[in-house]
Amino acid sequence: MLRSVLLSLSRSEQVRRIATDAPPARALVDRFVAGETTADAVRATEELVASGRLVTIDRLGEDTLERAHAEATRDAYLALLDALDDAGLAGSAEVSLKLSALGRALPGDGEGIALDLARSICERADAAGTSVTVDMEDHTTTDSTLSVVRELRADFPWVGAVLQAYLRRTESDCRDLAGPGSRVRLCKGAYREPESVAYQERSAVDRAYVRCLKILMQGQGYPMLATHDPRLVDIGEALAIRGDRPQSSYEFQMLYGVRPEEQLRLASEGHRMRVYVPFGDEWYGYLVRRLAERPANLTLLARSLTSKG
Ligand code: FDA
Repeated sequence: MLRSVLLSLSRSEQVRRIATDAPPARALVDRFVAGETTADAVRATEELVASGRLVTIDRLGEDTLERAHAEATRDAYLALLDALDDAGLAGSAEVSLKLSALGRALPGDGEGIALDLARSICERADAAGTSVTVDMEDHTTTDSTLSVVRELRADFPWVGAVLQAYLRRTESDCRDLAGPGSRVRLCKGAYREPESVAYQERSAVDRAYVRCLKILMQGQGYPMLATHDPRLVDIGEALAIRGDRPQSSYEFQMLYGVRPEEQLRLASEGHRMRVYVPFGDEWYGYLVRRLAERPANLTLLARSLTSKG
């Protein structure tokens, strides 16, 4: 219930302004967001890579409603990829992008515009020797996102897809996407979705995650296990051993600022451990989804919204 209220706030302009203006909110933002500039993202990446972790960087932004804004997002990704290349980090850091930030919701051929912009980002990533993963957003966009991923993969077979275990359709999508070389990030799912399309109970989502994970780990692709849930991490490790999967054939992924000790543990055991690093000034929707994931974070939110200091 609380989670649902919070997620509905993720689109509230008024609450966004209050949160942005309250200085204590800054500390909360800093825990989950690496900074506002490309240099901040590169600096955070350097630190993570130095500690044995891999990185995927997300330039924050969604709900883009102007073409110029979508093009600016593309340009920011191109600059980021150049900066990673210059810093010698392209072998350890890829990028994650949201099609809504690239203009998918623009009137007319929004999906085509987002595809074209994503394609230029893939070209630059290819030249730098790294990869791109396309984030998954709310369920009304799942078909569109998977169709864009299919198009991109025709030229760039390494493009990663994201599947959300809470959606009832996802086991079937896992079967479709478990082919050779297919990079698939499996997460639980972070949006408020209706019962008709998504499991609502946490235990049902967890069980669905395990079913999906089995399909991906038994397939021929490259599963990316995006979860902080200790039980699911254990199950992932057990499935890899049971399926004789070398550690290089799958990876764990976690969010910047969440369970850093566990990230280091997995990396020190030889696992490929990738951290999702968001940066940019459009952090509001992302932050609210992170807060909604954990009741303890709500106290931090309440303090930051009510404090004047
Ligand atoms: P769960 O929420 O049950 O958390 C398990 C435990 O992890 C908690 O008990 C707590 O200890 C810790 N934890 C989890 N979240 C925390 C938080 N915010 N703060 C502090 N502790 C926390 N979603 C989506 O819809 N589309 C996408 O494209 C992506 N992409 C993505 C990439 C990567 C790399 C990750 C890790 C996650 C995503 N997600 C996502 C988000 C995902 O769907 C999900 O909302 C979160 O990962 C939380 O789910 P967990 O599997 O961690 O389990």
